[in-house]
Amino acid sequence: MTLTRKISLVTTLLYLLISTASPARTQTVRERGVDEGKMKVFVDDLLAKMTLEEKLGQLNQHRWSWGENGDSIRQIYQKNVRDGQAGSFLGLQGVAYSAEIQRIAVEESRLGIPLLLAQDVIHGWRTTFPTPLGEASSWDPALAEKTARVAAVEASAQGLHWTFAPMVDVARDPRWGRIVEGAGEDPYLGGLLAAARVRGFQGTDLSQPNTILACAKHFAAYGGAEAGRDYNIVDISPRTLFEIYLPPFHRAVEAGVATVMGAFNEVNGVPMHANGYLINEVLRNGWGFRGLVVSDYTAIMELQRHGVAATPAEAGILGLTSGVDVDMVSEIYHLELPQMVREGRLSGAVVDQAARRVLEAKYRLGLFEDPFRYHNAEREKTLILHPDHLQIALEAATKSIVLLKNDHGILPLPPAPGSLAVIGALAADQDAPLGPWRGQGMAEDVVSVLSGIREKLPQSTSVYYQPGYTLPEFAGEGLMEAALQAVDQAEAVILVVGETARMSGEASNRTDIGLPGDQLALAKAVLGRGKPTVVVLMNGRPLAIPWLAENAPAILETWFLGVRMGPAVAKVLFGEENPGGKLPVTFPRVTGQIPIYYNHRSTGRPPREDDFFSSKYLDAHWTPQFPFGFGLSYTTFAYDGLAVDRESIGVGEKMAVRFQVRNTGTRKGDEVVQCYLQDNVGSVTRPVRQLVAFERITLQPGEAKTMNFTIYPEQMSFYNSGMQKTIEPGQFTVFVGGSSTAELSAGFEVVAN
Ligand code: GLC
Repeated sequence: MTLTRKISLVTTLLYLLISTASPARTQTVRERGVDEGKMKVFVDDLLAKMTLEEKLGQLNQHRWSWGENGDSIRQIYQKNVRDGQAGSFLGLQGVAYSAEIQRIAVEESRLGIPLLLAQDVIHGWRTTFPTPLGEASSWDPALAEKTARVAAVEASAQGLHWTFAPMVDVARDPRWGRIVEGAGEDPYLGGLLAAARVRGFQGTDLSQPNTILACAKHFAAYGGAEAGRDYNIVDISPRTLFEIYLPPFHRAVEAGVATVMGAFNEVNGVPMHANGYLINEVLRNGWGFRGLVVSDYTAIMELQRHGVAATPAEAGILGLTSGVDVDMVSEIYHLELPQMVREGRLSGAVVDQAARRVLEAKYRLGLFEDPFRYHNAEREKTLILHPDHLQIALEAATKSIVLLKNDHGILPLPPAPGSLAVIGALAADQDAPLGPWRGQGMAEDVVSVLSGIREKLPQSTSVYYQPGYTLPEFAGEGLMEAALQAVDQAEAVILVVGETARMSGEASNRTDIGLPGDQLALAKAVLGRGKPTVVVLMNGRPLAIPWLAENAPAILETWFLGVRMGPAVAKVLFGEENPGGKLPVTFPRVTGQIPIYYNHRSTGRPPREDDFFSSKYLDAHWTPQFPFGFGLSYTTFAYDGLAVDRESIGVGEKMAVRFQVRNTGTRKGDEVVQCYLQDNVGSVTRPVRQLVAFERITLQPGEAKTMNFTIYPEQMSFYNSGMQKTIEPGQFTVFVGGSSTAELSAGFEVVAN
């Protein structure tokens, strides 16, 4: 074994020792409600009966598409299912159709092995919630668990067993369209939300028919795509990989995630679907993951395009031996690999292991007992869009709104203005609030921002709506005059600008994250009329809005909030709700600053106003427009009394931190209190600070609360120059406050034992 391999193995084992030893992990592997011994006997017995072709058939996942005459099941699918050549389907939902294909599998195939039916249930199923990045702005893991639970109830009611979610990719580059699908730039916040969403989807017992297999994706470092271009290479240091991109996957594994999906990208020259080290050694042997790994869409075939396989058969061998158990859509495993096994180029044991993982997943869901337990027309009829679900959608939408600016307290607006102009086609749009990856979300279910405002205001208020630009082009030609007339007639203005739902999500990257089209020109004209104006951003990714940030008196970041976007925005605009969200991702001033993130390292010449020769730009200030963790409120909060419980601790000990936070304003409000840690000096450079604890709390006016946080040893650890996970003695600094720029600090020392 080469020295490098020895180091990597030592690293992995050391990492495992420290990370599993850490009490920071409050998640335990969720009990899946299955007797592992009985499951082994059952699966051993079934595998012994299966032919090689049937085992490889279990590894084949078809992409669903309607039959030749539109309403039947495609003949080839029926044939493959009958021949035991399909183990799962992507994209088939609805009790009627899915029951039929399941019947064919169970009654017309030789061994009657039921199918797994999977779909992307990313932020809701029919009841659509805020996009994951939007929901991450709530900084509320319990809420994320609740919305995932509802999504599982609705998806399982439509026959689905498996969701390809949560997407846990850390993203530091908002040019990348899929930043919308994750939890932003921080591994700690992202890890807690990943675990919460896994718990929501899987519940505490996968054998319950309203629980579904979750899938942590995309393993790994997909968010590191070079130039923010989806599917592009990822070239990062091993330290960045292990300290930034991998932790949320580890949290998902600790929460008991049943499946993991490979990422399209390569990492440092090795495509993830051929990355046996990260899949078999880190994910499986290092972290103890025992579920199945599914490829991304045609990613096994794509190993040829990456240039690491010359033929489909080689790609199949590489994928399967690297630990990718299920081949999504390529059809390489079941068509090419039987011959490879017979020629001795692929071990039958590897096939058995992958087939076992698929059969175990089916067993955990109870499908061998009752293959039709997810096909219940009554549940489908009563649970989809249930009023309780819509109430949760309203709660999630409201808690995800971030107040970015509120000069002169222009917000909240008076609850009954005489007149109001609502400008911007996005305000009336019922599609954008669904965001990308909307599952079964329907525009007809969405209450638009304009409708939410109208429903909120009394009849006496005149509401003048004008689109101001077209969708999806955001072209203002011929619409400006009418918009400005509406502004001139009104006492106050709501200007809704941003992106369509198609401008973020998969393969939807932008080279310029400014406002698309003529929106800025419209904003300048509207604000030029001098009326009290509130800008409502409706977008998938952080936007570069330097002129608005400078000139708009009030800005709400509302993302794509789902089916109850309108009422949520209206509650906040008119003061029924006080916004308490915080940014889970940095907003650059301009695209040229990207990548820009809060947990950066210092450099030898950190930017300084008074030092030309320091790390900054000629044409933009080096700081972000709005930093990670930032968000205002209609009230104010003050922090004081920060204290650490001991001035020094030994290596491996935890540190308790205490401080007070007070609502110093005149109304109740939520605050996400945040705690950051800096390792002042290390044998390698360390982030200027990193999030180690937070809590969203509610305080009445004048109310104060003493917060007690614990900083765990693993949070003081890092990978040294030899990639050994370690904690080094030295000075540490704790910062607490309402954003990543918190200044209230205290120090402590870690001393050698
Ligand atoms: C897509 C996405 C992945 C999704 C899969 C199935 O290409 O990369 O996130 O789960 O295909 O739809």
